[in-house]
Amino acid sequence: MIEDKLLEIKDLTVSIKQEKEMMPVVKGIDITIPRRTVVGLVGESGCGKSMTAKSINHILPSFAKVTGGSMMWHESSGKVCDIAALKEKEIRKRCGTDIAMIFQEPMTSLNPMMCIGDQIKEVLMIHKLEKNAEKAKARVVEMLDSVGIPEPAMRYRAYPHELSGGMRQRVMIAMAMIGSPKLLIADEPTTALDVTTEAQILKLIRKMCEDYTMSALMITHNMGVVSSLCDYVYVMYLGTIMEQAPTAELFRNPLHPYTRGLLSSIPKMGNNPEFLETIPGNIPVDKKKFKGCEFCLRCSDDIKKCFFEQAPLYKVSENHYVRCHVTGTGAASYTDEVENPDREYATAGKEG
Ligand SMILES: Nc1ncnc2c1ncn2[C@@H]1O[C@H](COP(=O)(O)OP(=O)(O)O)[C@@H](O)[C@H]1O
Ligand SMILES: [Mg+2]
Repeated sequence: MIEDKLLEIKDLTVSIKQEKEMMPVVKGIDITIPRRTVVGLVGESGCGKSMTAKSINHILPSFAKVTGGSMMWHESSGKVCDIAALKEKEIRKRCGTDIAMIFQEPMTSLNPMMCIGDQIKEVLMIHKLEKNAEKAKARVVEMLDSVGIPEPAMRYRAYPHELSGGMRQRVMIAMAMIGSPKLLIADEPTTALDVTTEAQILKLIRKMCEDYTMSALMITHNMGVVSSLCDYVYVMYLGTIMEQAPTAELFRNPLHPYTRGLLSSIPKMGNNPEFLETIPGNIPVDKKKFKGCEFCLRCSDDIKKCFFEQAPLYKVSENHYVRCHVTGTGAASYTDEVENPDREYATAGKEG
């Protein structure tokens, strides 16, 4: 079990209002983010990744609500606080200084009427991190420089629309980093970018995590992003964590049929794009009554039990867990060393 935890999400449930009823879209998940670690949360569109992210800093849309669980924040002093229970004013204080967030489309979070430098400076002023306006401006220029904005002093006066998508994402990262947060939540930050810019932005996020000894929760549907950035990864399907492991271990020994499907649908050089692998099948229609594994209607390995009973998270090796009756029990004796034994990873899962 890891000692150096930063955020421990336990049994988090997020529900949305549907025809006067609350329907869970995140179903009691456990995620641990250790200090100085990039944790990936991967899964296809609609599986509940953004709802998870937005519940951390209380920015869920009005139709969604946290209906269960806790989010324990471990201060460096040793004090622990449940940020899920914080009042609006208290969580706002933490956003920017403890927790910062970047999104897929920076234009939706940037003010089009204000120059980028002043927008970043506002973070410093609001959180009273710098009282002197001139010094604040100098810090912003320095930050623009460190996120790779050329001619930062001149670009301070630029408006968001004058910048390219990649540059706007760099501005968002500068705005996120200016308060030296301990956790960066990045929700599909490179999905709207071309591959070259994507690689540059991923490299920048990695560098920022190292320079600022910061942790990150990297949300993506792209296994390529996971492999280039994350230390540890959680695989989510329909609001449930299906598998979790150190990244190298997950790529070497994927056990859940869904994880295997995600990995085999990565386009590879030389493959005919017309024959891209897909995951066939449907999701259960009556989700409320269905008690089995939600992936079983798309699974080729399923057994009778899968249809009637959701699997627990089976422990496969020290930090590798899988929620699958077939591969979980079959691999329970698997004892290979993890690739990077020096690092202690999250073992938030409940043992099966
Ligand atoms: N604007 C919306 N209106 C209604 N339901 C929504 C909306 N956004 C999300 N949901 C519901 O919440 C689920 C999880 O959404 P989300 O967390 O945004 O998925 P992800 O980020 O993994 O693509 C969706 O499958 C959908 O059922
Ligand atoms: Mg999303």
